[in-house]
Amino acid sequence: MAVLVTGGAGYIGSHTCVELLEAGYEIVVLDNFNNSKPESVERIKKITGKEFQTYCIDLLDKEKVNQVFQENEIDAVIHFAGLKAVGESVFLPLHYYHNNVTGTLVLCEAMKNNNVKNLVFSSSATVYGLPEQCPITEDFRLGALNPYGRTKLMIEEILKDLYVSDNEWSIALLRYFNPIGAHKSGLIGEDPNGVPNNLMPYITQVAVGKLHELNVFGNQYSTKDGTGVRDYIHVVDLAKGHLKALDMITSSTGIEALNLGTGKGYSVLEMVSAFEKVSKIRIPYKVVAPRPGDAAVCCANSDKAFRMMGWKAEKGIEEMCEDSWRWQKMNPYGYEMNNVLDHPHLSIKVGIF
Ligand code: NAD
Ligand code: UD1
Repeated sequence: MAVLVTGGAGYIGSHTCVELLEAGYEIVVLDNFNNSKPESVERIKKITGKEFQTYCIDLLDKEKVNQVFQENEIDAVIHFAGLKAVGESVFLPLHYYHNNVTGTLVLCEAMKNNNVKNLVFSSSATVYGLPEQCPITEDFRLGALNPYGRTKLMIEEILKDLYVSDNEWSIALLRYFNPIGAHKSGLIGEDPNGVPNNLMPYITQVAVGKLHELNVFGNQYSTKDGTGVRDYIHVVDLAKGHLKALDMITSSTGIEALNLGTGKGYSVLEMVSAFEKVSKIRIPYKVVAPRPGDAAVCCANSDKAFRMMGWKAEKGIEEMCEDSWRWQKMNPYGYEMNNVLDHPHLSIKVGIF
């Protein structure tokens, strides 16, 4: 029996594939590589020394998705595949709704047709919108602020309806906070297209010399130093959360939303100094206007994940920064070109302090 991993070539998916393989699971990966590279699949194999089947398929392709279930004995699905750029979703709402929502409908239909009813879904802290207080528990009011967030909310609702219609389904809605870091090997990590939207990849690209300076989005929030506070979580801790969720859904039925975060909040400036400390590289920054739709503080209460699945994040901020930096240093151009010596114009500034 195998676990089907949609979006398994992506950032969180690739780390989860490694954890699954190392725990002895058989996996099948499905990805259309619209935001990832086949090289990440090769790296998963290199890290684990294990082989698995990968399908280059779009989730919107009903027949091919169905065929994956016909050709393999799948007993659970971890569904990462989706588009995730908030800004882009505002300009391309139809594309986001179609890809994320229709893609999930096609997947669930294929699961239903093939009598597979165990599903772990990648939701997001974004479903809490602008939270009124922190830390956030799963029963907080939901309300997304952009099309991307609404795709996550809609999918959560669809999956709840699916469970109501058939109580044999078992579904975990994992609401991730801010994943950063990378696998210790430095072989897999986050590889954003173009200029990164998120803080950590932006910082590492400044450190590697690809970007000039960090823009800090606002310093007048009511937080410890005025900059935004987030709950950063190591991607390997997050990946392990998926294994715990698999244990839970394969031993019971139901649908549960679970926060995956550390419960600790760090400001933008604290992240800059934590990164500078481990990398010994100064990160120049300037303060610019706040980003529309940004919350001042967003932190998880993940007690429910501990209570229901025995999961707890273990890695601290230093390790997150160290691992993000190792990945970026070893792969300044992400998966495309990976030997730093081929790019002498990049200034990897080591030992400035
Ligand atoms: P990612 O872009 O690295 O991975 C997503 C993968 O899905 C990519 O490999 C992409 O090619 C694939 N994909 C997208 N649409 C597809 C389709 N129609 N058919 C087949 N494959 C498709 O993103 P990630 O950071 O690994 O995120 C994984 C999931 O977690 C996403 O659903 C995302 O919305 C969610 N999430 C991510 C974060 C984050 O900060 N990274 C936070 C909360 C939630
Ligand atoms: C963003 C998304 C959110 C998504 C999450 C994880 C938006 C509005 N929200 O959230 O939907 O779930 O990523 O993928 O895009 N910052 C800077 N300069 C930068 C980048 C970020 O100062 O160049 C600040 C932000 O204002 C924020 C913090 O750093 O305070 C973290 O930002 P980011 O990594 O983008 O994550 P989120 O804002 O939590």
